[in-house]
Amino acid sequence: MTKKEKIVILILDDEKQFTEELHEFFQNSGYNSFETNNAPDARKILNEHEIDLLILDVRMPGVNGLDILEEVKSRYPAMEIIVVSAHGDMDTVIKAMRLGAFDYLRKPFRHIDIQIAIERTQKYLQMQCRLKQMEEKNSLISKNLEEKIKRHFIGISPLILEVFESAVTASKYPDANVLITGESGTGKENIARIIHYSSKRKDHVFCAVNSSSITDSLLESEFFGHKKGSFTGAIENKMGFFEVCNDGTLFLDEIADMPLNLQAKILRAIEEKVVTRVGETNQIHTDFRIVSATNYDIEKMVDKRIFRLDLLHRLNTLHIHIPPLRERPEDIKPLVNHYVEVYAMKFNKPNIRIDKEVIECLETYQFPGNVRELKNMVERAVILCKGNTLGINNFPVKPKRISSPEQKTDLNDLRILEMDLIRKTLIECDFNQKAAAEVLGITRDALIRKMKKHNISIKK
Ligand SMILES: Nc1ncnc2c1ncn2[C@@H]1O[C@H](COP(=O)(O)OP(=O)(O)OP(=O)(O)O)[C@@H](O)[C@H]1O
Ligand SMILES: [Mg+2]
Repeated sequence: MTKKEKIVILILDDEKQFTEELHEFFQNSGYNSFETNNAPDARKILNEHEIDLLILDVRMPGVNGLDILEEVKSRYPAMEIIVVSAHGDMDTVIKAMRLGAFDYLRKPFRHIDIQIAIERTQKYLQMQCRLKQMEEKNSLISKNLEEKIKRHFIGISPLILEVFESAVTASKYPDANVLITGESGTGKENIARIIHYSSKRKDHVFCAVNSSSITDSLLESEFFGHKKGSFTGAIENKMGFFEVCNDGTLFLDEIADMPLNLQAKILRAIEEKVVTRVGETNQIHTDFRIVSATNYDIEKMVDKRIFRLDLLHRLNTLHIHIPPLRERPEDIKPLVNHYVEVYAMKFNKPNIRIDKEVIECLETYQFPGNVRELKNMVERAVILCKGNTLGINNFPVKPKRISSPEQKTDLNDLRILEMDLIRKTLIECDFNQKAAAEVLGITRDALIRKMKKHNISIKK
């Protein structure tokens, strides 16, 4: 049924007087209708016209009305059928309803009865039509979303293309847990979203959770949910992350920060796919996939017994490692181009071109904050840019040359570089960690971790 107001009806009954009378009634009521007294003609009309409703006599000489009903339902599944039966033929009516008839009328019936039946059918068909339109719209939205997500994945280096390939593989196995490792700002969450939105779980929830941002006392209730009144503050029944992510993906960000007691509980939920809300006893089944991420050396944490080996095994069915940006300088140019376009549009500065020197310099920069740092750098540069050309003077960080490919970078140099940069930035920001993290293009948590790693104290 399209958007038309009135439905198109076909009447099939061997009684000529009955079909003529009904046809006339429909015409007078403003419906478009056809009538016939035999099955071959009915097939022809059904073939040539877009019929929404068939009024079918299930008892006609020489033909089995139920066979016709089955045939029509299988050839035109969207068409509805009202069967007409004689008094005392309830068995056939029941069979017809089981075969998918929408309604039935018993002969003789009044015009008002058929009018009501038709209006009901019309309403139902309109609802079906609206549902179909909504489904189409929905699938269009998902398609747009998928395209948008793909547009958000920038990179041409073999290293990042390999990451993308692994994400595509992971999306095809929607029940396999995935562990994503990589330095801060390399795009772990980005990849987690790509996996989710390319998988069959895409129409369900993607929930990103960082357990270090939840206070210890609330951790269990946030993950498992709680019953109203089970503790002070539990004013309502609440679903936990595992339940919310039923059929979807739970993204566990920075798993290294997860307390050991929560690790044990999470392991159980992952293994059994059931959860029990705090204050409840019954178990709730939930089907989630876990994508987790860390920028720590998680195996070292297992060695130190601060991360459970059995949980790590559960989480890394598939493992994707995102290399730091400095190891894939080919990606810098497309990333800069992309973000210049994004911010030029945002700040209404069209036609910005990028000085060749900018790319050359950035390709030799270390990017401790990886893509996030580059993105922030470009945003700032576009804001600072006065004319039409983005020059190296618009970039606050003076690029440092890295060693030539033959001379491999000494890891110790990188450590010192990173330590220096963090120290200088902290001093510049008057030891305000939030501001320093922003300047560095990393999260505050990442900055604190790095400060711990380099033994940098916040005292002036
Ligand atoms: N390949 C990429 N293409 C486009 N944008 C990217 C890419 N990789 C990362 N980004 C962007 O860089 C920023 C940081 O990415 P993301 O948050 O996914 O990093 P992360 O590894 O999760 O960082 P952290 O460890 O600090 O949580 C985001 O704005 C993201 O959109
Ligand atoms: Mg992240």
